[in-house]
Amino acid sequence: MDDRTAVQPKMVPVSQQEAYRGGTKLRRRFPTIHYLRNHARHHIPHFAFEYSDGGAGADTGIAHNWAALDAVELVPRYGVMPSLPPLEVELFGRRYAAPIGIAPMGGPAVVWPGADQFMAEAAQRTRIPYVLGTVGGLSIEQAMAIAPDVMWFQLYRMARNDHALGFDLVRRADAAGVNVLVITIDVPVRTTRPREVIVGLGGGPIRPEPRTILDVLSAPGWMMALLKHGLPRFANMKPYAGEGASTNDVIRFTRREIGGAFTWDEIARFRDRWKRPLVLKGILHPLDAERAVSLGVDGVWVSNHGGRQIEALPPSIDVLPAIAAQIGRRATILMDSGVRSGLDVVRALALGAQTAFAGKAFLWGLGALGPQGPQHVIDLLIDEARATLGQIGAHSPAEAQSVVIRHPGALSFPQLPGR
Ligand SMILES: Cc1cc2nc3c(=O)[nH]c(=O)nc-3n(C[C@H](O)[C@H](O)[C@H](O)COP(=O)(O)O)c2cc1C
Repeated sequence: MDDRTAVQPKMVPVSQQEAYRGGTKLRRRFPTIHYLRNHARHHIPHFAFEYSDGGAGADTGIAHNWAALDAVELVPRYGVMPSLPPLEVELFGRRYAAPIGIAPMGGPAVVWPGADQFMAEAAQRTRIPYVLGTVGGLSIEQAMAIAPDVMWFQLYRMARNDHALGFDLVRRADAAGVNVLVITIDVPVRTTRPREVIVGLGGGPIRPEPRTILDVLSAPGWMMALLKHGLPRFANMKPYAGEGASTNDVIRFTRREIGGAFTWDEIARFRDRWKRPLVLKGILHPLDAERAVSLGVDGVWVSNHGGRQIEALPPSIDVLPAIAAQIGRRATILMDSGVRSGLDVVRALALGAQTAFAGKAFLWGLGALGPQGPQHVIDLLIDEARATLGQIGAHSPAEAQSVVIRHPGALSFPQLPGR
């Protein structure tokens, strides 16, 4: 294990826990992520909020994710918890401060210019995983310079020229020393997110329309950030788009290159090339998890893409127990989709995940607080997760799995062999 990443577990006396101290000014204004979302709605341009908040169709998939998490109840055991538990976890040979991570996102800089940098900085400061997206606003090399101990890289499929571009990004990630490669498999098709389309972010070139300009003028903090950090850039893709390519050229190029979901044969080829830990993101079926493990994948990331693909996908929390039962300890299990609190994180731990990631929660933090947002979201998630473990009587994140759980939405897969 890398010495720099060693974190000593420590118990935290209840009286010293942040939430119990009455909180800082930020905590008084934004005691939960819910308040960040409400404030973001009025603090950034309308198009930026719509980008951060919208899902497929009528957002039903997002609502299902939230409702499914809300329905999970944990039965506490008392008399066993004189102090609050440590949250440290080990993932893929490195220690992290908490079982919480920042999910990969393309375009967070739409929500707050410079967003990728602020998320990477907060993750490094706290030592939680930060996943840079293929179409994120930092290049692999820039993100590694900011977050060398915690940065992972997410890859989309770019099949032209026999995956030349994807293989080159993987080569760059390897050369930069990225520890974990995350391959996203759950975007076989492009679907419609109407709230993005309506505000002009449906995928075409960026054209400032009068209403967009008015939107920007109504959000002076966001406008200043834009002047300082510039337009969102597809930093990883730019070098491949040709000399002097404009932002719109790079967008067009990226849309042409990225497409379809990886086949299992393709995943096997990436497995061959990438010698460090490999994670498959977007798994919802135990047999796909099994297939991933059989190919030598190290991590299975249970996700429905945060309700952004189609609305009929089951909430990841509802398929998590069946996937955990299927693969056991043969791979690390990660989860996202709908996480809005440290309580949700512990629900995911209790049902079989080793770490839960959040996407939109970080965008709402950025929308409400700009550069300070990601750190505040991390602080809230950590405090709430620690308090939840304390409340249910779990002495570590792993011990959350031993509590009694009521999970009305749990999906069973009776047709699976052996059940
Ligand atoms: C604005 C936005 C952009 C995203 N872009 C990507 C991406 O480029 N690659 C990817 O694998 N997932 C992407 N996702 C999905 C997230 O990684 C994650 O699965 C999802 O946000 C989790 O659900 P939550 O938002 O409810 O936390 C994106 C999500 C959002 C909200």
